[in-house]
Amino acid sequence: MEESNKFRGLLVAIEGIDGSGKTTLAKNLVNRLQDKGYKVHYTFEPTHSIIGKLLRELPDNYRSPLIETLLYAADRVHHYLSEIKAKIDKGYIVIVDRYIHSSIAYQGALGAPLQWIIEVNKHVPKPDLAFYIDVPVEVAIQRLEASRKKKTFYEKKELLRKVRRIYLKLVDKGELILLNGLEKPEEITRKAYDKILSFLRSRAK
Ligand code: TYD
Repeated sequence: MEESNKFRGLLVAIEGIDGSGKTTLAKNLVNRLQDKGYKVHYTFEPTHSIIGKLLRELPDNYRSPLIETLLYAADRVHHYLSEIKAKIDKGYIVIVDRYIHSSIAYQGALGAPLQWIIEVNKHVPKPDLAFYIDVPVEVAIQRLEASRKKKTFYEKKELLRKVRRIYLKLVDKGELILLNGLEKPEEITRKAYDKILSFLRSRAK
């Protein structure tokens, strides 16, 4: 489709607490945009780079909100420079499953100062569009338990409550586009897809 070649690509971030349905939305958007003829690239953070691997395997005595902020930011800089930038330059719509706002919400909830998290992430471009799928923590936890993906602890619930609060503040500030995670996946996909298309149309003017 010729429209897909006319523009510099687009960076779309998908955000939400664990169990909110981010990955489902990201995959659905990829399929829908590809069906329409757009060039689309799906990617995620933490990545599978050595920094992403380090983040997943970091021993407890190395874990702290400050160290994790720096490592997530380092993983992101590498991700942008080695993968995202080239795709955007080639006109792709890049759908990234977690990006800068995950650091603000999670490392912020864990105690890192928000302004400092923003500061250490300021040399990677902000997403053109960032969606936040909102679900109550209890719903997310039930979904995670049903899929046996993650162990749930009391602390995890408390953490996710704080994470959600920060995400919702970012929605209020106009940085994130709110999607209701209790709606059907097709409905959530349709709303996000419509936003992406109207963003592309307004940019083409
Ligand atoms: P997630 O997308 O939930 O991965 P999976 O599909 O394997 O469940 O991300 C894993 C965790 O990484 C998640 O709990 C949030 C955390 N995270 C941060 O704390 N800060 C960040 O900047 C990023 C990108 C992720």
